[in-house]
Amino acid sequence: MTQPFHVAISMDGNGRWATRRGLPRGLGHKAGVQTVRRIVEAAPDLGVTTLTLFAFSANNWNRPQVEVDGLMMLLDAYLRSDARRFVESGARLTLIGRRDRLPPSLVQAIEAVEAASAGGRRLHLRIAIDYSAREEIVRAANDWRALPAAVATGPALDAFSRLVAGAADAEAVDLMIRTGGEKRLSDFLLWECAYAELWFTDTLWPDFTEAGFAAAVEDFRRRERRFGGLSAGEQRAAG
Ligand code: FPP
Repeated sequence: MTQPFHVAISMDGNGRWATRRGLPRGLGHKAGVQTVRRIVEAAPDLGVTTLTLFAFSANNWNRPQVEVDGLMMLLDAYLRSDARRFVESGARLTLIGRRDRLPPSLVQAIEAVEAASAGGRRLHLRIAIDYSAREEIVRAANDWRALPAAVATGPALDAFSRLVAGAADAEAVDLMIRTGGEKRLSDFLLWECAYAELWFTDTLWPDFTEAGFAAAVEDFRRRERRFGGLSAGEQRAAG
């Protein structure tokens, strides 16, 4: 069985990429879609089983309307144009985040790809749209209160983790990548990143390549994950 390997990416830097070229920010996002295609394609060969991409945060509604509309259109176009390729490549797509504030046609496109790709086992691609990790945690806490006592008395961390993950079930994040130079999580997968390895690069998202992705994964493979315990060597020494 393939070892689960969940990579999450904060795709930052589209706006700066465009501005530096004297282009409107929207063209940076458009260039970012090409990077999404390359990275999604490269993921399975790097051993990635789940890839979560941060496409639109709950706070991104505060951007100028023209940029918000452009992003919604790009997401819609991407889902419609790449749906067949997903299914053929054995990928499964799910959305995480709120759906009730999205344009109805985008929700329709999401639901169509989710249904068509439901059997995909090669890669689980999760796209975070109108997403806030803190809101997801609050929602999970409310759901928790509504659980029958018998369920709530099981292993609490596991049960709560399942509530946070919601319908778009996913294991904890192993590797969190952020492009664009900032070193912060920005309300992305806060619960799931409890023991994630973090990898930051100055490269702006439209310039991020398969080689950059492979370098991040290679770096991850060299790290020793202790989950709060000791390394194997330290454990032997401790007797
Ligand atoms: C952050 O860069 C990026 C976003 C808010 C949007 C990300 C969207 C895409 C890459 C395209 C659509 C996605 C998919 C999955 C098809 P920024 O605009 O904040 O960049 P800046 O920090 O340079 O201003």
